[in-house]
Amino acid sequence: MSHLGYAALMDSFQATIDADGRIEPRDAMPDGYRKTLIRQIAQHAHSEIIGMQPEGNWISRAPSLRRKAILMAKVQDEAGHGLYLYAAAETLGVDRADLLDMLHTGRQKYSSIFNYPTLTWADIGAIGWLVDGAAIVNQVPLCRCSYGPYARAMVRVCKEESFHQRQGFEILHTLCNGTEGQKAMAQDALDRWWWPSLMMFGPPDASSTHSEQSMAWGIKRHSNDELRQRFVDMTVPQADVLGLRVPDDGLVYDESTGHYSFTEPDYTELYAVVKGNGPCNEKRLAHRVKAHEDGAWVREAAAAYAAKQQEAVA
Ligand code: 3HC
Repeated sequence: MSHLGYAALMDSFQATIDADGRIEPRDAMPDGYRKTLIRQIAQHAHSEIIGMQPEGNWISRAPSLRRKAILMAKVQDEAGHGLYLYAAAETLGVDRADLLDMLHTGRQKYSSIFNYPTLTWADIGAIGWLVDGAAIVNQVPLCRCSYGPYARAMVRVCKEESFHQRQGFEILHTLCNGTEGQKAMAQDALDRWWWPSLMMFGPPDASSTHSEQSMAWGIKRHSNDELRQRFVDMTVPQADVLGLRVPDDGLVYDESTGHYSFTEPDYTELYAVVKGNGPCNEKRLAHRVKAHEDGAWVREAAAAYAAKQQEAVA
């Protein structure tokens, strides 16, 4: 392609971004835009499937048949989210087998939050309420992401996350209205999950490597700190409804701004977890690799079936 042709294509990309339009798979896009999307969507997809583990751990121990059925549906939804997201990444010219390989060999990341253990049933409530709550705050703006396939995948994901968030809140609401021991279990879960949930939003804006460019491209619509603030403002009144105490002595509502001031999480912990040194990193990755290896026969059978179908049509 001539230099002039390339420049015209990039102008057309920029005009679409400036007009807040959508970039579609066949549109021209700068290499950096494509790479950023592949990185973010893959990391997001990996988070969805690794995120099945902490909750999957409780399916056999859910306290009633109703809770078990709901939890199974929820964990299954996360697998579905992974599927939509890997499919969205593939529209950018990558192969999901390669993305999985990068996850399994530690060359791509997944969310820090899934490297913490689920010690009690209340943790399942806390994950739904806080982790899926944080996911909604982070992902609703992604429904307006400039890349069409990612934005469209996020619409359905967010609807399901909203159900997940409410089921988590309902678990905690039940515990908080139960015995003293159950309420203490709910408080303990909030104490352990509060700080890692704040970390999910990523490093503070001043240390965020990608935010500025991703916002200029309309991939991210808000900075990490803006979304973290939004999450705190939304969640603290919900903790009050539950009768639980957010474990932050620095939490104060500021009438003049309409926002809570809060203590920042310990970002050295976030960086350590992201580097692989969280409480469950090794276990999560080992389990994922084993599940992938154990599932090889399913992929082979599906490929053989697809090939036969193809032959039948030819
Ligand atoms: N965990 C792991 N890595 C993180 C992280 C976290 N919580 N937050 C940031 N990072 C990484 C980034 O990937 C980046 O690393 P890289 O350059 O090696 O790729 C580095 O830290 C610097 O951070 P930036 O702020 O510059 O990175 P981003 O601009 O990509 O912002 C993000 C980070 C806000 C997480 C953004 O990528 C995003 O919005 N992603 C989409 C949503 C997502 O992936 N959510 C994960 C949770 S999914 C989930 O919760 C599912 C559920 O069902 C509950």
